Amino acid sequence: MRALVWHGKEDIRCDTVSDPEIEHPRDAIIKVTSCAICGSDLHLFHNFIPAMKPGDVMGHEMMGEVVETGSQMNGRLKKGDRIVVPFTINCGECEQCKRGNFSVCERTNRNKETADKVFGHTTAGLFGYTHLTGGYPGGQAEYLRVPFADETHIKVPDSLTDEQVLFLGDIFPTGWQAAAQCDIEPTDTVVVWGCGPVGQMTIRSAVLLGAKQVIAIDRIPERLSMAEAGGATTINFEEESVVERLNELTQGKGPEKCIDAVGLESHVSMGQPDTLLDRAKQMVMLESDRPHVLREMIYVCRPGGIISIPGVYSGLVDKIPMGQAMNKGLTFRMGQTHVRRWTDDLVRRIEEGQIDPSFVITHTASLEEGPEMYKVFRDKRDSCIKVVLKP
Ligand SMILES: NC(=O)c1ccc[n+]([C@@H]2O[C@H](COP(=O)([O-])OP(=O)(O)OC[C@H]3O[C@@H](n4cnc5c(N)ncnc54)[C@H](O)[C@@H]3O)[C@@H](O)[C@H]2O)c1
Ligand SMILES: [Zn+2]
Ligand SMILES: [Zn+2]
Repeated sequence: MRALVWHGKEDIRCDTVSDPEIEHPRDAIIKVTSCAICGSDLHLFHNFIPAMKPGDVMGHEMMGEVVETGSQMNGRLKKGDRIVVPFTINCGECEQCKRGNFSVCERTNRNKETADKVFGHTTAGLFGYTHLTGGYPGGQAEYLRVPFADETHIKVPDSLTDEQVLFLGDIFPTGWQAAAQCDIEPTDTVVVWGCGPVGQMTIRSAVLLGAKQVIAIDRIPERLSMAEAGGATTINFEEESVVERLNELTQGKGPEKCIDAVGLESHVSMGQPDTLLDRAKQMVMLESDRPHVLREMIYVCRPGGIISIPGVYSGLVDKIPMGQAMNKGLTFRMGQTHVRRWTDDLVRRIEEGQIDPSFVITHTASLEEGPEMYKVFRDKRDSCIKVVLKP
């Protein structure tokens, strides 16, 4: 089959690889009908997350039709079913799955021993996301093996198009969880840093969850326009002071809820000197991530507020002002998304027309065009916000 394969830093190719096969009774194989490129894939493209190996198949946002199943589906999945695949693989049986903490499932990471050593305790297996989380081939491919498929799937109604439901596997529940874990009150100002696909889903989720005011920050005009269309007041951080504008918009009190939808690759610019220092430290391996947004959120957040972090961090960050955070009594919430915790509710919201997540798609291309689309998405060329690939 054809698949997008990681060969090294900034080197992804569309190769022919062997077709996946059923390896376990709980496996299913899907024919991928649509898949997407995620901001998290860019961290792998730039080789910021360790434990990728040349030959790894990329992709963790995908859906398709079940073409083969193992013998142990427990009546939950059959040939012909149309499913979206959550990027966090979950067993459904361990203590964490029972608590709804699907992204920290205790059983699905095939490389549990390594993860135990690196993280202290293993997290769930993830598709197409390094050997630290299981080394499972991803779904930017014609076919995908879904392990623990009897649990790891979201059935979707035929009345909805691929474009409407594809993002249930990642960015929609990610934006939703980012907003939900802010415990939004009707009096709250919610600020979202980053208006990429995750930021866009977060903005709309915060609006649906009833925030008084949603403010979105980025520097890319078309991303800011999309945020505005979703109900946010916007700040271009290259043109105005984030701290001053946020104080103005909150009568000097600061926002109650702050969400980091940027993660470890915060934009590097002269206007934000700490980002230059972070970049330099990254180059000499003194720091793995650039946490500018974390610093800014802690500084502007209203005392007693919540900091929610869907943005991915990979390792060590420097100069995080714990003194400010501690004395202001801030609460931190973060994590890879517990996708299935949210998706029944989100499927219903799409069906009811409360939201149509396809609004974020700007580009649709073939798998062969995938390697080029990684660059277009990374460079935000051609007003690119979200790419969907059709294998
Ligand atoms: N927690 C999860 O389960 C999960 C799931 C999906 C994605 N993610 C993460 O979410 C983050 C965003 O993903 P995406 O697909 O939207 O990626 P993206 O790269 O398209 O978007 C990031 C946006 O942040 C903006 N930005 C950069 N520096 C900024 C700053 N200082 N202030 C404000 N905005 C800034 C960029 O201009 C860009 O528009 C990534 O880190 C990704 O890995 C996490
Ligand atoms: Zn993702
Ligand atoms: Zn589990």
